[in-house]
Amino acid sequence: MTGEREQGRGGGGTARAEVAGDACIESLQRWRAEALAAVEEASDEAALERIRVRYLGRREGRVSGVLRRMGSLAPADRPRVGAAANRVRKELAAALKRGLARIASAASSTGHPPDLTLPPRQRWRGTVHPVSRAIDDIWKIFRSLGFVRVRGPEVETEWYNFVALNTPLDHPAADEQDTLFLDPGPHPRGAASPGLLLRSHTSPVQIRTMERHEPPIRIIAPGMVYRRDTYDATHTPAFAQIEGLVVDEGVTFVDFKATLAEFARRFWGPGTQIRFRPSFFPFTEPSAEVDVKRAIVREDGREEETDWIEIMGAGMVDPAVLDNVGYDSERYTGWAFGMGPGRVAMLRHGVRDLRLFYENDMRFLGQFR
Ligand code: PHE
Repeated sequence: MTGEREQGRGGGGTARAEVAGDACIESLQRWRAEALAAVEEASDEAALERIRVRYLGRREGRVSGVLRRMGSLAPADRPRVGAAANRVRKELAAALKRGLARIASAASSTGHPPDLTLPPRQRWRGTVHPVSRAIDDIWKIFRSLGFVRVRGPEVETEWYNFVALNTPLDHPAADEQDTLFLDPGPHPRGAASPGLLLRSHTSPVQIRTMERHEPPIRIIAPGMVYRRDTYDATHTPAFAQIEGLVVDEGVTFVDFKATLAEFARRFWGPGTQIRFRPSFFPFTEPSAEVDVKRAIVREDGREEETDWIEIMGAGMVDPAVLDNVGYDSERYTGWAFGMGPGRVAMLRHGVRDLRLFYENDMRFLGQFR
């Protein structure tokens, strides 16, 4: 200490700064003594932690405060005050560590052996939501088939959600009964209005992608969609969809069917069959609803087939849609699908009520860890 003091003087500090430097060192010595005594007396971890915060805490700690305020000392005082503060800091840290060890060993030698029959403390452990997991697993298969993953906005315009998809605004799907419009008051149908709405499907991402990129296109677009549906076991006003779109020269219905069959077998297993039922969507021609039937092995080892379960709407992209984005519909063809990952997750986990996936009740979601 003496040596440092002399060094400080030798460094040419002013009288006032010397006093400040000396005062600092005196305070440090006082805090050191106080803190060491407090550590001796501390009887639990919390008390030690309070001591640590009080003296060594980053923001309010007294000793750390000296180091923080170094800049206000005369330059010549800084080395000795800094060294003293660091020494006190190290000493206190070591004492706290010893204090912790002392308390831990005291706790284990109180004479009460630990009660091994006590239930463990419950800890919150997060997990991936089952619908997100279905999306990720579906995505991985398509990624390996050369698709890229994209996304689009949930607030859309009538153009992207309907018109560009060959769905006139007087089509039932565009009706206010099904779609959540964002415009206040009666929904304006004028051409000048952008007609904002919550997208009712992920198909607008088809348009947004094709507007920006030339073929070949191979995309997967997962996301939330919104509908004014009655809330029941298979309908929720917000739910996830996954859009798929392929556009290139020479793409045929055979590619379409083969790709979906390959997907289904990779996702549900080699025994999975798929079936196309004729359907209608304004933006595909022909359109289909795709069902899967799984082969499952029962507990007694016997093989069993599930019922046909609908997993998606799909079809060959209507040439009018290609025209709407400025593609040459004589040259390019494509196919698209819209899959329900909530549906897929229900199937996978044997959950019978879709609402459970979107209510986020931790008692339910916690079972998917
Ligand atoms: N967008 C349709 C729906 O939500 C599904 C679909 C997507 C159908 C792509 C055909 C092609 O029901």
